[in-house]
Amino acid sequence: MFDNLKHKITTILDQKETSTDLRLQQVCELLRNTVPHYDWVGFYFKNGNKNELKLGPYAGQPTEHTIIPFGKGICGQVAISNENFVVPDVKAQDNYIACSLTVKSEIVVPLFLKGENIGQIDIDSNTLNAFSHEDERFLEFVNREVAKTLH
Ligand code: SME
Repeated sequence: MFDNLKHKITTILDQKETSTDLRLQQVCELLRNTVPHYDWVGFYFKNGNKNELKLGPYAGQPTEHTIIPFGKGICGQVAISNENFVVPDVKAQDNYIACSLTVKSEIVVPLFLKGENIGQIDIDSNTLNAFSHEDERFLEFVNREVAKTLH
């Protein structure tokens, strides 16, 4: 499944005439519509000079959490740690921001531009323990491809 998707992701991101936001929107929708365990897919980016994340393009239920301070929730922790965060069971996390009561597991993978952590892809699943190393490697690929379109 992921190998098939990689080519489609690259094709979307290569659309030079399309705005970055629209390309990222299409990536979110493709992922959400294609991967059964991806129920909410979105990008957060560092908000200017502030130590907070701002919601970018996403697919799935609207969320109230459009701004997340660094350190808060899974997303805010990844903004500081620079490392993938796989949460098999969101109920077992102290520092977690609930976006929807149906969400059971989550993965957040940082997005680096020229070595700097400038944002992340965040995916929620309504299935417990939904994410594996395969998801991590695939989402690292997605973020590398996105970074290429941002510089
Ligand atoms: N659950 C995230 C907040 C973002 S929503 O999942 C869209 C967190 O704990 O950071």
